Amino acid sequence: MTLAGRRVAVGICGGIAAYKMPQIIRMLLKQDCEVQAILTANGERFAAKATLATLTRRPVITSLFDQTEPVSTRHIATADWAEALLVAPATANILAKFACGIADDFLSTLYLSLKTPVLCAPSMNTVMWEHPATQENLAILRKRGVVIVPPASGDLACGSSGAGRLAPGKEIVFAVRKALSPQDLAGKKMLITCGGTQEQIDPVRVISNKSTGKMGIALAIRAAERGAQVTLVHGALAQAAPQYLLAVPALSTADMAREVRTRFPKNDILVMAAAVADFTPKTVARKKIKKQAQGLTLNLVAAQDILKEASRKKGKRVIVGFALDSDDRAAQARKKLIEKKCDLLVANPPMAIGSETTALTLYAKDGSAIELGPMTKKDAAEAILDRIAAL
Ligand code: CTP
Repeated sequence: MTLAGRRVAVGICGGIAAYKMPQIIRMLLKQDCEVQAILTANGERFAAKATLATLTRRPVITSLFDQTEPVSTRHIATADWAEALLVAPATANILAKFACGIADDFLSTLYLSLKTPVLCAPSMNTVMWEHPATQENLAILRKRGVVIVPPASGDLACGSSGAGRLAPGKEIVFAVRKALSPQDLAGKKMLITCGGTQEQIDPVRVISNKSTGKMGIALAIRAAERGAQVTLVHGALAQAAPQYLLAVPALSTADMAREVRTRFPKNDILVMAAAVADFTPKTVARKKIKKQAQGLTLNLVAAQDILKEASRKKGKRVIVGFALDSDDRAAQARKKLIEKKCDLLVANPPMAIGSETTALTLYAKDGSAIELGPMTKKDAAEAILDRIAAL
């Protein structure tokens, strides 16, 4: 899903994290989202109006009253325009005003005028964050359906350290995207594997593959945006796993097999996008293997087939397998679909490994085959999830 043309009002309050907001707004703008910036009186002390107006190409709203307008209904016009309101940084003060329904400036009045989703990303000193007044106000807002993007822990501007840092931009953008997405996977628990497994030879060496995990990460993020409760079990990745998802590292085939075995029964859908080893060293040397003039022969044995093992306990669960074959792709894909009891099998070309793009064929149990691409892995993730949602 793109945010192109989607309309988000962004309220910036008087906290030091306001200096991060031009960057976060830029992340939304890069997805062609339209942003209306709103500054509270104290927000104006921390974020420059000119910066926000230049980025968003719109005048920044700072007051309920505009002297050029004969009547003041800007809050209603903005409420009609916005598809979502993001408040970041949300101070203890604005949370309290929202919770009580106090409407004494533009942002608090806008909140009362909105029927669309509201997201608050709080940022403040830890004592203020943990204060019962703040926590009780948050509980009221959560109950009302306001999405709270919780603060991160770390060094704070006041010199102390603890909970209260504004959540990372990627997490805030994820929350906005989720708020604007159809929740057609809500209530579904999804276990997604991705990345390449690493089979240990000795304490410093592994046998692995060129998988980067991009496809699986794109699937996990998008599934979570569409409402699924996602667990991402990942091998080696070329990029960090998203911190806002439940990400479980499992580097070896044996580790990944264990994680899938224990987690599969608690999930509704398994997507095996990981590039799992077919062979693993028979023994792992306890010490680093020394250089030898005559070379080295490794004794490899078959690795566990994680998907095949899971398929034996399939029950009513949906299983989505992936396949990557150099030759005879259609026949191989159909064979794996049946052998591993998949509802859907996603056939990848070898060029997909490490690339931003892919060209896929989706084979379903009913014999159908849908060709997709070439397209970005993000677009491919959307198409795969559309197919899963329709199963
Ligand atoms: N898979 C698995 N465990 C393995 C190997 C593969 O769970 N030890 C899963 C992959 O995650 C993928 C599917 O099985 O979802 C097919 O993987 P693929 O490597 O294409 O096929 P294999 O069954 O391993 O057969 P081959 O390598 O001979 O093509």
